[in-house]
Amino acid sequence: MQPEKVTAQVVKTANREFYDAVADHYEELDGRRSPALETWLRGNLSELRGRAPGGSLLDIGAGSGLVTRCAEGLFAQRVGIDLSPRILAAHRACFDFGAAADVEHLPFRAASFDVVTCFAVLHHLYDFDGLIAEVKRVLKPAGIFYSDHDMDRGFSTRFQIPLSVYRKLRNARAKYQRASGAITPELYDLTEWQEQGVDAARLIGLLELAGFTVEARFHWFGLIPTLDRFVGTNLRGRGWSPLLSTVAMWTSS
Ligand SMILES: C[S@@+](CC[C@H](N)C(=O)[O-])C[C@H]1O[C@@H](n2cnc3c(N)ncnc32)[C@H](O)[C@@H]1O
Repeated sequence: MQPEKVTAQVVKTANREFYDAVADHYEELDGRRSPALETWLRGNLSELRGRAPGGSLLDIGAGSGLVTRCAEGLFAQRVGIDLSPRILAAHRACFDFGAAADVEHLPFRAASFDVVTCFAVLHHLYDFDGLIAEVKRVLKPAGIFYSDHDMDRGFSTRFQIPLSVYRKLRNARAKYQRASGAITPELYDLTEWQEQGVDAARLIGLLELAGFTVEARFHWFGLIPTLDRFVGTNLRGRGWSPLLSTVAMWTSS
């Protein structure tokens, strides 16, 4: 039998099946959850609220509602979309409104939101073109796109060997397989489509081409609590910190 060709649709279907399967347990399964991460994220969202034209927020790939929970009291309207209807349904209290949708087909009118966020989502996407087109469409003028917590390929290329040791020890795939019989190694690998890291330079280039003014940072915060104390918020150059943080303001059409 020929192996199935991996297309954008195959990656989307895998993400929906995977997050539907772990919907009820995702909060316990995700290794990043901590009060420190929530405080840090709320601080970032508060800063964005200060720069944004208004208080409507759309979180893409909202999952179990981490971003919208942290945005409570900061944004008057918190909307979440996700490919997985089950994960949204299991956490509906975290959103003012939630919709099962694909980032490439957002069910909203143009110029609906002041801020659009994506947290730990980019590396699950097949590519970025559809995301950027839709974010630009639904943002209001001077609106802001914020994305964080995806590994940058510059770091994973430089630290390939220690990273593969860390990943072997962490064995996230086995943890998810234990959580649900529906999760196979193949399904896991398809959801982690950009596991080798997102190409920050390409993402920034595409955003700039679409008319955004981009601030990109690379950091360590929110991976391991002990590490947070030493290197967490110390910003280092590309290739020396794993996590890409992007703030992009839509300045021109
Ligand atoms: C690693 S989880 C992150 C969830 C949440 N943002 C957080 O940080 O806890 C990635 C989420 O992105 C969603 N996702 C993946 N591809 C998507 C797409 N094309 N459109 C919408 N959501 C997508 C998945 O269903 C999943 O809930």
